[in-house]
Amino acid sequence: MSAIATNRKATFENLMQPWSVGIDVITGVMDKPDRTLVRRASDMKGYYRDHAALQKLIAAGDPVHYEVFEKELPEEYGHLLLCISKLYPGTVGDECFMTKGHYHTVAGTGEVYLCLRGEGYMIMKTEDGRTNEQKFAPSRMVYVPPFWAHRSVNTGDEPLISFCVYPADAGHNYGDIEKQGFPQKITRRDGRVEMR
Ligand code: PA5
Ligand code: NI
Repeated sequence: MSAIATNRKATFENLMQPWSVGIDVITGVMDKPDRTLVRRASDMKGYYRDHAALQKLIAAGDPVHYEVFEKELPEEYGHLLLCISKLYPGTVGDECFMTKGHYHTVAGTGEVYLCLRGEGYMIMKTEDGRTNEQKFAPSRMVYVPPFWAHRSVNTGDEPLISFCVYPADAGHNYGDIEKQGFPQKITRRDGRVEMR
């Protein structure tokens, strides 16, 4: 039986009730999330280029870089996972705070991001060396097509808050990113943002 047929059968045997959830677009917090992923400076070792600056930040209180609020959902074909991502403002050396970034384990799955507050970029790359960047600004949507690794970067002074949706069976693959990062580097010095 195909995955689609299996899924449809399961859907009618064990139907999920529709539901809704509130979010605060200013604080970037979801009402009663089932899971909250918190990544601090110490979770980001190897991701920023200035290792000494990251160590200094860890020693100075190990600030939260980002939080992701999620609802529990079956990680299977047909469902969608949704989250609120809150990426704090700041720099490590002159590199703007960012998420680790990942490919999807099921590489041919995309993702939609809707920016609710703040400013920054979604930087993207492919395994065969292509790169792309899309601007994050309130009410602006970014589409991450299948096969593109994606990383959010906060270039502003306030939290970068975004809502994201992706296929529930997509999975996260950090692959080459911890070792190689992304070709794009976004810096901020004296309020001036630069992408190299
Ligand atoms: O799937 C997504 O893109 C998000 O749910 C991210 O996982 C979230 O923003 C955290 O980023 P990362 O997994 O790269 O640390
Ligand atoms: Ni993703």
